[in-house]
Amino acid sequence: NNPYDFVVVANRLPVDRITLPDGTQGFQRAPGGLVTALEPVMAASEGAWVGWHGGIDEELAEFDKDDIHLVPVPLSEQDLNLYYEGFSNSTLWPLYHDVIVPPEYHRTWWDRYKKINQRFADAVARTAAQHATVWVHDYQLQLVPQMLRLARPDLKIGFFLHIPFPAASLFSQLPWRTQILEGLAGADLVGFQRETDASNFLRCLRRFTDYSTRGHEATPSATHGIQNLCRAEAHPISIDTKEIAKLSRDPQIIARAAQIRLELGNPKTIMLGVDRLDYTKGIRHRLKAYGELLNDQSLRAGDVCLIQVASPSRENVGSYMELRDQVELMVGQITGQHDTLSHTTLRYLHHSYPLREMIALYLAADVLLVTALRDGMNLVAKEFVAAHQDGRGVLVLSEYTGAADQLTQAVLVNPHDIDGMKAKIIEAVKMDQNEQARRMRRMNRHLLDNDVTGWSAHFLAELAEINSRANQIS
Ligand code: G6P
Repeated sequence: NNPYDFVVVANRLPVDRITLPDGTQGFQRAPGGLVTALEPVMAASEGAWVGWHGGIDEELAEFDKDDIHLVPVPLSEQDLNLYYEGFSNSTLWPLYHDVIVPPEYHRTWWDRYKKINQRFADAVARTAAQHATVWVHDYQLQLVPQMLRLARPDLKIGFFLHIPFPAASLFSQLPWRTQILEGLAGADLVGFQRETDASNFLRCLRRFTDYSTRGHEATPSATHGIQNLCRAEAHPISIDTKEIAKLSRDPQIIARAAQIRLELGNPKTIMLGVDRLDYTKGIRHRLKAYGELLNDQSLRAGDVCLIQVASPSRENVGSYMELRDQVELMVGQITGQHDTLSHTTLRYLHHSYPLREMIALYLAADVLLVTALRDGMNLVAKEFVAAHQDGRGVLVLSEYTGAADQLTQAVLVNPHDIDGMKAKIIEAVKMDQNEQARRMRRMNRHLLDNDVTGWSAHFLAELAEINSRANQIS
């Protein structure tokens, strides 16, 4: 007799752990696109969120936070090693991002991935009301749709993949490719960031399972244990455009942006990079291009500063440790060579910052560099644009991001082409004010018409429509 008729399930709960003034531990809501997107739906229905609370080996009771019912899923140290750092972030993450680093295939990791997916599915099955809508998120939980379909055939099940879905030629490497595909196809609707992701998925289904497809729909053969129809299509995620635009007009944030420029010695041009410290983000390619532009004096060291925010991420995973060493070596080389006592050409920050400070950084910057080698969407690009209602600023954006499908007025780059990227960075630095404003206005119009609330509303409306159709048929 569970009351929850809308259940979100993601690897993480939307809360951060904090130490309260009296020294005890508590939680506060984590800022983030997904919570913002789902807030209206959560408020309109009895909403629950199933996810890991961030603790290790810690059983926590269910609790309410700001109108959302939270259902913590415990993970042990071994679960973290095998399911999170292992299969999720050392097998799937690199495989789905064009094998930028080689994925590792270990049977013990896969076994634990199945086990933890089942743990999440069981928690959802316990939480969801009859005929509830369940929305499963991201690559850590790809088996959950099928597990839920078997346990609770009454549920409407949606899945959204926040990262790319690879081409069949890469996906075929995965020893458990059929199980993953069938896991996803247990959903009524599988959403992807780009059209190519959806078509890659449908092609893989045809090649590696007994599903047949017609347009965007897939059905299993008659002998298959599950008989649902699965729809796969692009639903690109977005941001809370109005909220970011509003913050960008906040006098305190505007003053903070001016202060940042001043603290950096008021250079002619401030460039900005904002990423999790992840090898998919192309930080080394960006630094290579920037270092060369300083070396060949296409950029004058005294005139520019690049602020690189690289927030700590997945620090126990080997490839992330190596990346950190490589990036920090490059930072040392650039600053050692080009800085003076009074001016820095590169401010490297291995921290994460609250949204208000991020908006001040976006406002302080003239050029944002997004040079990812592969990225599902890249919301930083969208936030930068939304923060520039003033029509100032240039977005340099990798073709390999989902955002490039929508922010077509950005200066698009191929991060593998260092010379090409250098030329585009110079073009961005020199772009005249009218051209900047023209491009920013067009991109902002797109983001106002396509914000994160629209994203979740469209996805859920489509999921409801598929189900009412299915009920009419049966
Ligand atoms: C990406 C993934 C998310 C993930 C986030 C942070 O955006 O799509 O699923 O939560 O990175 O990574 P972490 O491993 O810290 O959860």
